[in-house]
Amino acid sequence: MTGEKDLHTLLATMHPVRRDGEYVYVLWPHGRPLAGEIMAAVREAEGLTVVMPRDDADAMGLSYDFVGAWITLEVHSSLEAVGLTAAVGAALTEAKISCNVLAGFHHDHLLVPVADADRALEVLHELALRESAPHEFDPHELAQDSSREPAAPALRLRVEQPEDRPALLALTAAAFAVSPVTGLPVEGEPEEVDLLRRLFGCAEYLPEFSIVAELDGEIVGHVISTRARVGDLDLLGLGPIGVVPRLQRHGIGTALMKETVARANAAGERGIALLGSPGYYSRFGFVPSSSLGVAPPVPAWGANFQLLPLALWPGGVSGTFRYAAPFEG
Ligand SMILES: CC(C)(COP(=O)(O)OP(=O)(O)OC[C@H]1O[C@@H](n2cnc3c(N)ncnc32)[C@H](O)[C@@H]1OP(=O)(O)O)[C@@H](O)C(=O)NCCC(=O)NCCS
Repeated sequence: MTGEKDLHTLLATMHPVRRDGEYVYVLWPHGRPLAGEIMAAVREAEGLTVVMPRDDADAMGLSYDFVGAWITLEVHSSLEAVGLTAAVGAALTEAKISCNVLAGFHHDHLLVPVADADRALEVLHELALRESAPHEFDPHELAQDSSREPAAPALRLRVEQPEDRPALLALTAAAFAVSPVTGLPVEGEPEEVDLLRRLFGCAEYLPEFSIVAELDGEIVGHVISTRARVGDLDLLGLGPIGVVPRLQRHGIGTALMKETVARANAAGERGIALLGSPGYYSRFGFVPSSSLGVAPPVPAWGANFQLLPLALWPGGVSGTFRYAAPFEG
């Protein structure tokens, strides 16, 4: 049996998607040959229940009570997975949304009242976010020295304030003092510093996506994502991201990336793109953008230009990625 069984992974990556149309449960008239698009069927002693598009039922004059929206959890769940249905059902119950569950070989499907469909998707996205969001971060958990006392300061992730900017520019200068491309010391001010300065002042600046990591009152990391586009589709362009050199490789970059993804999902963003090492960013789910139909702004960037499709990634995207204006040139 294939498919994901780990409940935490299933919930974090369940990717709920609503199918077009409305669906109804019909008690099939005894003796009548099956017709229309049968989406699911259950045979009971009392008769045959079928789930079908409402339009088909109307066209055939079949009666029904429940009119549902069909939500598929696109994660490939194993039929042996334990707890997914219960967790999803509990979250929807708490939101006072009724739900009928159908398990296919590959996916679980939820039928919720049409009027509750949007709210149900919100509840499911919130549930996925709760599972994928970084939990309380203790840098000593990741530090080499595991003998330290647990009273260590926790990493705080928050939105940038205007008064942080000098510290953020200084942090970026320190983080990029050695070029991540060449591995050599950079002469003068790294170009990422002026890029960040211009991003702060550009039309594509999004305050909620300039995220600061603070440890015991000291700014130790920063990531910024700004408005970018493929055709008319709004996306996020991530970068620069930097962590103070003495605290690199202690999980702060990971925390900033996960916070960005959680905020972007919560804000209904479609996807995040960046230029960087696939060795690092693939762990967050980034894939070469071209595999999703998005050409890098500079063709030579190839597979280093990566895209993370978020919960609301629309699919069928085709075009070239355009960063915020300060990235030009
Ligand atoms: C890149 C950066 C933001 C990552 O933050 P961080 O806090 O150091 O990273 P984390 O501790 O969360 O993750 C560490 C892991 O990422 C890996 N990693 C870090 N940078 C990497 C890179 N450029 N390529 C491949 N892997 C990388 C480490 O090897 C480590 O892997 P491991 O967990 O398997 O040992 C930070 O190292 C930094 O500021 N670097 C200098 C500036 C820079 O390069 N920015 C990104 C440009 S795309």
